[in-house]
Amino acid sequence: MESIRINGKDFVPYISNDKIIAAVDKVAAELNNDFFGSGVTPVILCVLNGSIIFCGHLMPRLKFSCELASIRLKSYEGTKSTGDVKEVIGLDIDLSGRTVIIVEDIVDTGATIESLVSQLKEKGAVDVRICTFSLKTDVYKRNIKIDYMGMEIANKFIVGWGLDYDQMGRQLADIYILKDQLE
Ligand code: IMP
Ligand code: MG
Repeated sequence: MESIRINGKDFVPYISNDKIIAAVDKVAAELNNDFFGSGVTPVILCVLNGSIIFCGHLMPRLKFSCELASIRLKSYEGTKSTGDVKEVIGLDIDLSGRTVIIVEDIVDTGATIESLVSQLKEKGAVDVRICTFSLKTDVYKRNIKIDYMGMEIANKFIVGWGLDYDQMGRQLADIYILKDQLE
């Protein structure tokens, strides 16, 4: 794999597609373990745009009945979190009494999931779980439990597999890291 340039920044290969798929399989197995035969039909909530690839690979692996809904949130500008979570496309389903599984590409500061969890609870969700492809363990300091996690990521800026740099790079099958941040 070679280094690539996106909007004037160089990125180098960091996590291969094989490892990514193994993480998706692991998360799917954990979800199946908790929900198969449970009688609960959760709402899988895809947090657009970043989670679309992870969610699209995860759903066909699920062996229990579930619904799919999407919401579009935005908190990043360039390579940094703004700390302010904007809702770009809202929810249009009734969540009263529902179990919701938030599917995220990455949890960094946790601002996004924190604001989302309180919004879903206000809308009547009784059980809200977090399922994230990746977690920046050293940055995340909030109290919300991360129920399902594909892999831990160092505090670095990455692109690919749904993750973007200024909306670019989401289509990459592997994950790349900013070249300056590779030790
Ligand atoms: P948080 O609200 O700080 O937890 O950030 C969550 C959102 O920021 C994610 O859903 C991503 O859209 C974005 N994000 C966080 N870290 C990265 C990264 O390393 N690359 C690309 N996007 C990121
Ligand atoms: Mg995102």
